[in-house]
Amino acid sequence: MLTVIGNLKGGSGKSTVAFNLAVWLAKAHQEPMCFDLDPQSTLSDVAEVRHDEGHQPEIQVFRAADDPAELIKHHKGEVLVDVGAANLWAMRQAVNMADRIVVPVTPSQADVWSTQRFLGIVGEALKDGHAPEIWGFINRADTHSSVRETAETEEALSMLPGLQVQKVRLGQRTAFRRSFSEGLAVFELERAGKAAQEFSRLAELLFPKVKKMQKSKAR
Ligand SMILES: Nc1ncnc2c1ncn2[C@@H]1O[C@H](COP(=O)(O)OP(=O)(O)OP(=O)(O)O)[C@@H](O)[C@H]1O
Ligand SMILES: [Mg+2]
Repeated sequence: MLTVIGNLKGGSGKSTVAFNLAVWLAKAHQEPMCFDLDPQSTLSDVAEVRHDEGHQPEIQVFRAADDPAELIKHHKGEVLVDVGAANLWAMRQAVNMADRIVVPVTPSQADVWSTQRFLGIVGEALKDGHAPEIWGFINRADTHSSVRETAETEEALSMLPGLQVQKVRLGQRTAFRRSFSEGLAVFELERAGKAAQEFSRLAELLFPKVKKMQKSKAR
């Protein structure tokens, strides 16, 4: 399955989610193939930090120049693609290969607008009746329950046609920031921490078969 992690808005957490998912899948022996189609190269950079620090398993990240279509054709496992607004051409290519598009959204009105615009771009880019599922979820949710912005954003997202809003949230947590600087997934940094718990829920929702395999192995 090919999962694109995308949104127009910078800083919504695309690369954070892509990196953590890549490690989660690699630890479950899924050998994910990752593509970094964003010229900022954040996913490639964090994979390099992980390599330099000697953390295992390593995450191999391909770049746009590596001809994704040719490489993906020969890959049997999961494929993750990180795309940003800086390369709209790559974004259009990626959504046309996607089985599913995962859209992290930070809680704000501006993010709702840019998600709406992103859905428009995806709709225009899709060819020949190709219709990947589009899943949205809140990243960087406020951890104080008194702040209404997260629930309001979730509600506004649920009104956007074509977007399936998932009831999982990743909170605004230091562990997600440390993930980049240390080259470790949040569940490697703090196994039982809140970020790890939230992230596992997201990963299990996205890859239920992998979850099932892990559970049966643990028995
Ligand atoms: N849930 C979170 N809690 C705290 N910090 C987060 C969270 N998610 C992402 N961040 C931080 O926010 C910043 C932006 O995240 P990230 O680079 O993943 O976003 P992006 O959507 O890939 O951005 P860009 O569009 O620039 O590629 C990073 O410093 C990251 O560590
Ligand atoms: Mg990024």
